[in-house]
Amino acid sequence: MNLTSQRLFSQSSPPSLDDFHRLCSESAKPETYPLAASIEKNVPIYNLSEYEDALASDDPTIAKLQDEWYQILLSGPGVFVLKGMYTNQPQFSSARDNATRAFERIISHEKTLQKNGDSKGDHFAGKGANERIWNSFGKHALVDPASFSEYYSNPWLSHVCNSWLGPAYRVTAQVNVVKPQGKAQNPHRDYHLGFQDQPHCAQYPRGAQVASQFLTLQGAVAHTDMPLASGPTRLLPFSQRFEDGYLAYREDSFQQYFLENYVALPLEKGDGIFFNPALFHAAGANETADFNRMANLLQISSAFGKAMESVDSLPIVERCWGILAEKYTASTASKKEKLELSSLVQAIADGYPFPTNLDNRPPAPSGMAPESEQQLLVRGLEAGWTRARVVEEMRKMRSDAADVFEWNS
Ligand SMILES: [Fe+2]
Repeated sequence: MNLTSQRLFSQSSPPSLDDFHRLCSESAKPETYPLAASIEKNVPIYNLSEYEDALASDDPTIAKLQDEWYQILLSGPGVFVLKGMYTNQPQFSSARDNATRAFERIISHEKTLQKNGDSKGDHFAGKGANERIWNSFGKHALVDPASFSEYYSNPWLSHVCNSWLGPAYRVTAQVNVVKPQGKAQNPHRDYHLGFQDQPHCAQYPRGAQVASQFLTLQGAVAHTDMPLASGPTRLLPFSQRFEDGYLAYREDSFQQYFLENYVALPLEKGDGIFFNPALFHAAGANETADFNRMANLLQISSAFGKAMESVDSLPIVERCWGILAEKYTASTASKKEKLELSSLVQAIADGYPFPTNLDNRPPAPSGMAPESEQQLLVRGLEAGWTRARVVEEMRKMRSDAADVFEWNS
């Protein structure tokens, strides 16, 4: 049988660990990345102090750097370090430190808003083990517009985003502070399919699973030094090239392989690290006694993936709810009508719960995506909601998903 004729990755035959091992056994060679200062544990390190002058001119070196970064992300190790990204130029190192102070203010402000005063945790760490700022991008702008504007005017950031995504990208950011005794994450891949549970992920065709990596760039700026004991990100170079990796990383054998083969690099405050979202990776364990590790995680999205026209599903659902309810009643009798109902729901409501407000709609440990409009409609049909009720629930979902951070200080 020609396996490539199958639209979906097989769920009955597991991904091949041997194939994965073959891919991940490659070595990154210095001659492939001549502008890198070094390659450590298969990760090319770019010393940006060598190239700061090139920023101010039409130096072709920038395009050559972008060529190398693109090749690394596409077919090479999948990850590289930009040494001194927020250190070499005084304006960016001071923006970085002022940003750190803004993040600390946001964390303490959000703690006062939480009833128990505890840290909120996130989808990988329990309460108390880390501090998380969802949408640090939007909050930083309100809390300290001066350092925000300086921080995001760093040309290295746009050069690296352009190299993978092209222009018209959208930056989002989340701060993560991992405290002593904070545990390591499980190895995973990232947004988009890394935020789906296994059954949903498996429904996406092979081509979409492979294409997903081109829609996002994953990065982080170190806001503290990150010695190895503090648990900088664990990485498995070359693993982004494994086509069924979004399903494979969930398998015990692949998790074990990661634990036996990952690499980690110490970072200094101000370094940037960027990787393909399909790279197997995991935040490391903070094994220090008294050191908090802070990073601003950057997740940059391609312009592609947005619809051409704005469609507001709420008035459509409001107008058609009676018809939907009728179809639901009829669909208990016939498979054909059931299919018609689900086709209609898929057409009129949003099936994807992003972008969202992760403070109000946090990702859960399993099935990490919050409820979508389509899932809400199905729930409403099953519960026999009135038109008024479904409209109210959709409005609540929207207000929860909106960006509503307020800063009056
Ligand atoms: Fe991740």
